[in-house]
Amino acid sequence: MSKQAEKKNAALKAVEYVKSGMTLGLGTGSTAYFAIEAIGEQWQAGTLTDIRAIPTSEATARQAEGYGIPLLKLADVDRIDLTIDGADEFDPQLRLIKGGGGALFREKLVAFASDTMLVISDGSKEVAQLGAFPLPLEVLPKAVRLVQRVLNEKGYYAPQLRMTADNEPFLTDNQNYILDCALGQIPNPDELDLELHLIPGIVETGLFLGLATKVIMGKGDEVVEIG
Ligand code: 5RP
Repeated sequence: MSKQAEKKNAALKAVEYVKSGMTLGLGTGSTAYFAIEAIGEQWQAGTLTDIRAIPTSEATARQAEGYGIPLLKLADVDRIDLTIDGADEFDPQLRLIKGGGGALFREKLVAFASDTMLVISDGSKEVAQLGAFPLPLEVLPKAVRLVQRVLNEKGYYAPQLRMTADNEPFLTDNQNYILDCALGQIPNPDELDLELHLIPGIVETGLFLGLATKVIMGKGDEVVEIG
């Protein structure tokens, strides 16, 4: 079973939780893509009605618009019924690293606003301890050198400025930069998240703690639900 098939199977299982009448959060990335595709097809077929969605990125907005799914801005709502999003890693407590696609800030806002957050993944994202995936930090461009220095001094060595294929700094949808921090292991994610939030210039971290309701993971032929 390919990784793509595992992602699609997880996404299709998560979409079973979507009901007519819901306000939805739509995640970003190659796994969320399959969920948006399935929601879009059901919307067009009329089997799903009276839904509205808040996209977590411009790319997701464009995909959802392609199906004619009614979109809202996060500023238009104060709560969301259900969000489906991917992750780069999850641990046994359903703590996540996200931001591989650079959409972590909007993804965290949408996850925080959601009554239920379903995380969809292939079998490779499950880890015993977070940290093998470099932790993305969204950083104000004017503070990037300052934040890099402070992180280096704290021992979070060599935070890398994310670059595009054209060798320009990658810009998030909020016009910020991303620093990727290869930490190797994160024994205490809560402590690290607090420490990072105390550094001015770091807009948001890719640590999603206490936000995921359930992980739905494609693993081989099976789909496993955790949480
Ligand atoms: C984007 C994310 C994605 O959810 C994460 O990178 C997983 O992506 P994919 O489903 O393509 O593996 O956090 O900011």
